[in-house]
Amino acid sequence: MAKILGIGNAVLDIIHTVPHYPHEDEEIRAFKKSITSGGNVNNSLYVLNQLGHNTAICSTVAADSEAKLLLADLKKRNISTAYVQKFIQGCTPSSSVTLNAQSGHRSIVHYRDLPEVTFDYFAKIEIEEYDWLHFEGRNLGNLPGMLNIAKTFLTNQPISLEVEKPRDGIEAMIPLANLVIFSHHYAQAKGFNDGHALLSEIQKITTHSNLVCTWGDQGVWYASPNGEVHHILAEAVNPVVDTLGAGDTFNAGLIHSLIEGHSLTESVNRANKLAAQKCRQYGLDNLMEVKHADKPLANIKQLSNAKTLTVNSGTRSVILIKHGDSVKAYLNNCPHQNVPLNEAYKIDVNPFEKTMKCSVHDAFFNIEDGLCIEGPCWNEALETIDIHIDDKGNIFLGS
Ligand code: FRU
Repeated sequence: MAKILGIGNAVLDIIHTVPHYPHEDEEIRAFKKSITSGGNVNNSLYVLNQLGHNTAICSTVAADSEAKLLLADLKKRNISTAYVQKFIQGCTPSSSVTLNAQSGHRSIVHYRDLPEVTFDYFAKIEIEEYDWLHFEGRNLGNLPGMLNIAKTFLTNQPISLEVEKPRDGIEAMIPLANLVIFSHHYAQAKGFNDGHALLSEIQKITTHSNLVCTWGDQGVWYASPNGEVHHILAEAVNPVVDTLGAGDTFNAGLIHSLIEGHSLTESVNRANKLAAQKCRQYGLDNLMEVKHADKPLANIKQLSNAKTLTVNSGTRSVILIKHGDSVKAYLNNCPHQNVPLNEAYKIDVNPFEKTMKCSVHDAFFNIEDGLCIEGPCWNEALETIDIHIDDKGNIFLGS
């Protein structure tokens, strides 16, 4: 386990999953909404936590209500907020994310007017306590100073830098990092048609950094210091469920594998697989659990309309129940007090009213959509779990 500090923007993501990408002037109904913390470094840190590391974010928030949601979610993600700088001017950065359920692709409208981490603030952090520092390649007013003190005070700890977009002065930062991860947006904006062309050019400005360039479904190019540029293809993903944070997951997988002592080739391959795994599921929660997706949760023959079946999947307990001919799956967690619905007794089902009841404080939930229609958490809903059923009636996690 390593201690990792990520420096970048924390963002509040408001994600709507829609049946198709709306055209101008169209009004459509989203069938899923979630509000989570986002931002590249934050997402990578969340995945690194799930890979067993201890993480902290160095970022900024405003003094608004979004900041409360953001900080609460960082806490839930177990990312330390000890180094979050607070500003009274501006608002907490937010992204309105539209996730097209047909393609799994996300479109982002981002808003930010908040100052980024200042050099003086960063300079007070005891960076020597960390085993790895990961920077977003932004905030060019302060980044050179931050990277320079990191270079000066850290002897053995690697520094990684994500270069997502072209920004004035970013190229001068490249030689200061041990690992530089470029996106294809950067490469294309600089006029390169593939990662090979970009990395060959970058090798002229640094002789001692590991270089990686990710290119979505075209795969990844990478080169060790002074080494040849190699290419691997992207893992096949079918269907693509959600690409939001796939690049951030790749970065986390890469850092993790390098920390574990694997070669750059091995690490790029592992990161590629982890990013593909992310694209097969919604969100970043329980990313490591997807390994169990091959194992069915249950078979439809075990289910009935009159009683629930609770099964364990990784660390989660899942409620399965038949609803007409379909199967509904919910997280076994009552939103009232965050306890399993069967904590006190079994979950009573009323097949006529099509409701089920939490045994703790008698909250009644619609079987159809998980909504609480009577009880202490009225109008809140159980969390839906995505499932699919194969032709033998086996029920699997994931849509
Ligand atoms: C995904 C992401 C989102 C965030 C946006 C910021 O990579 O980090 O979580 O809203 O990009 O640009």
